[in-house]
Amino acid sequence: MQIPLVDVKAQYAPLQAELEARFREILGSGQFIRGPHYYAFQEEAAAFLGVSKTIGVGNGTDAIVIVLDAMEIGPGDEVICPAFTFYATAESIARRGATPVFADSASLRKMNCLSPGRFSQKSIVERSGPAARTRGASVSFSARAGRSSDHA
Ligand SMILES: Cc1ncc(COP(=O)(O)O)c(C=O)c1O
Repeated sequence: MQIPLVDVKAQYAPLQAELEARFREILGSGQFIRGPHYYAFQEEAAAFLGVSKTIGVGNGTDAIVIVLDAMEIGPGDEVICPAFTFYATAESIARRGATPVFADSASLRKMNCLSPGRFSQKSIVERSGPAARTRGASVSFSARAGRSSDHA
C-alpha cells in the first residue's frame, strides 16, 4: 500500500463544489486582482492567525521571498527553517543568497511549525557561529498554517 506524502486531490475533493462556484463567479466578474474575495481572504487569514493584518499574495514562494526581503535577509545570513517542508522554503532562502539551516519541528500537534521563541541566541551561535544573531522573527512555514504563537 502506497501512502502519498501529499494527496492534493484528497484535499481538493471536499472543497470542489465551493471552489468551482467561486472560480465561475470570479471569472464571470472579470475582476481577477483585488476583488472582494481577496480582501475577505485577508481578513479571515488574520482572524485565523490572531494577527491584525495579512497580505494575500499570488503564491507561497512569493510569500516567503517578501518576508525575507522585509527582513533584509541576504548573502551571509542563515535562516532557520523546518526540515519537513516543501522545496520552495529552502529555494526562496537560497534565491536571496542566504543559507537555509534545517531544524526539526518541535511537535506535530503544533502543525509542523517552528516557533521563533524556542531558539535562544546561545543555541543559534553554537550551531551557526559567532556571526549568527537572532532577529525579531524567523521564517516559519509549514504545509499547513499555524497559530500566531508559531508565526512572526
Ligand atoms: C511549505 C510550502 N512553502 C512554499 C510553497 C510554495 O508555494 P507555491 O508553489 O505556491 O509557490 C509550498 C507549496 O506547496 C509549500 O508547501
